[in-house]
Amino acid sequence: MTVRLIIDGVEHITDPAGPESLLSTLRDRLGLTATKNACEQGECGSCTVVLDGLAVCSCLVMTADADGAEITTAAGVTGADGALHAVQEAMIDAGAVQCGFCTPGIVVAAAHLFETDPHPDEMAIKEALSGNLCRCTGYGAIVRALLAVAEGDSP
Ligand code: FES
Ligand code: FES
Repeated sequence: MTVRLIIDGVEHITDPAGPESLLSTLRDRLGLTATKNACEQGECGSCTVVLDGLAVCSCLVMTADADGAEITTAAGVTGADGALHAVQEAMIDAGAVQCGFCTPGIVVAAAHLFETDPHPDEMAIKEALSGNLCRCTGYGAIVRALLAVAEGDSP
């Protein structure tokens, strides 16, 4: 089956194997490695993308079911001119990145949160990140970074 995907604003026509996951299509078929694979079981959130306006685990989405979808990965969160998103700037400033494996998924989930709620409170931030596991930071610096964005101008 031929599938059309709009990924970070670019059209891709691809021919996934029957049960292929969107994560596998992104990374292994299309070479778009901004989206990370840590569990492939919907447990960690490292593979988070926004698919037609919803933050989802791309390892749990069959590519065939995403035909025609618009998808944003961590690479698409960064501006076309390479400018970092306010979430990325704030996470750097707060030292909210250690090994970095969870970071693309957290950046996608957080940027999506700010699109729907420019000034989320701490509870809303924690809820938005509830599907994203980070084994390194303890979340404190991540939440502080996102609160700094929430309390400043909209990204
Ligand atoms: S790789 Fe998809 S949730 Fe972990
Ligand atoms: S920074 Fe290592 S898992 Fe989050």
